[in-house]
Amino acid sequence: MAYISDDRRKVTTHRLAEMKARGEKISMLTSYDYTMASLVDGAGVDVILVGDSASNVMAGNMTTLPITLEQMIYHGKSVVKAVKRALVVVDMPFGTYQASDIEAVNNAIQIMKITHADALKLEGGEEILPSVRRILAAGIPVMGHLGLMPQSINKFGTYAVRAKGEEEAEKLLRDARLLEEAGCFALVLEKIPAELARRVAEELTIPVIGIGAGGGVDGQVLVVSDMLGMTKDFSPRFLRRYADLFTIVTEAVGHYVEDVKSGDFPNETEQY
Ligand code: KIV
Repeated sequence: MAYISDDRRKVTTHRLAEMKARGEKISMLTSYDYTMASLVDGAGVDVILVGDSASNVMAGNMTTLPITLEQMIYHGKSVVKAVKRALVVVDMPFGTYQASDIEAVNNAIQIMKITHADALKLEGGEEILPSVRRILAAGIPVMGHLGLMPQSINKFGTYAVRAKGEEEAEKLLRDARLLEEAGCFALVLEKIPAELARRVAEELTIPVIGIGAGGGVDGQVLVVSDMLGMTKDFSPRFLRRYADLFTIVTEAVGHYVEDVKSGDFPNETEQY
């Protein structure tokens, strides 16, 4: 058994701040359903993200843009029911917080009321600051997300590393400071140079969680199906696979099909 925390206290935003202060790295993974969230929580992950990557992973869409508020609420509710210890963060989906701060706070309240999640995550900096402030003013903890922001894929045009140039790096630093000043409890940095991410984590007092942002940050997040090796064709440099579930599941299902076809399953002890 690799790691099961003996500290079963519920993880809070306050405890994440304490972890950063004492130099303890924060572990975060996505989950979208009850069964996976039970496993991930039971294994000791600190933060579970109900990511809008559900759009790709659960619904087979090419981008995160199509997933709806109702669908995120469905995933959020399923995950929260399973989780005893981890802090549960739900992504606000594309189109639910960009148009106005009033619409943003109304949608945020709906997610929190129905899912009972602990916090929300929004992609963007200065441009979405009024929404971030309004949601925070309603008493809802907000996690920021900068760098590669998949909801803006049509603007970027590519999933390549962000903020390699000075101008974009300066904007990212400015946005990170603004999000901290506004009151965000943590920040995700996706696919940016490790040196820039380290600088942000050193400068901010709130925890900075990286995905493809190197080891100089305060924690790491991965998409659970990627790190479990359920997918074969997605292999970015930052992804470490901790299992090969693609092979395990394919072999197990193939074996089941064989047993059904041959009449080996069910046997006498497997019937009434
Ligand atoms: O939706 C998601 O899975 C995310 C992570 C990649 C951070 O936002």
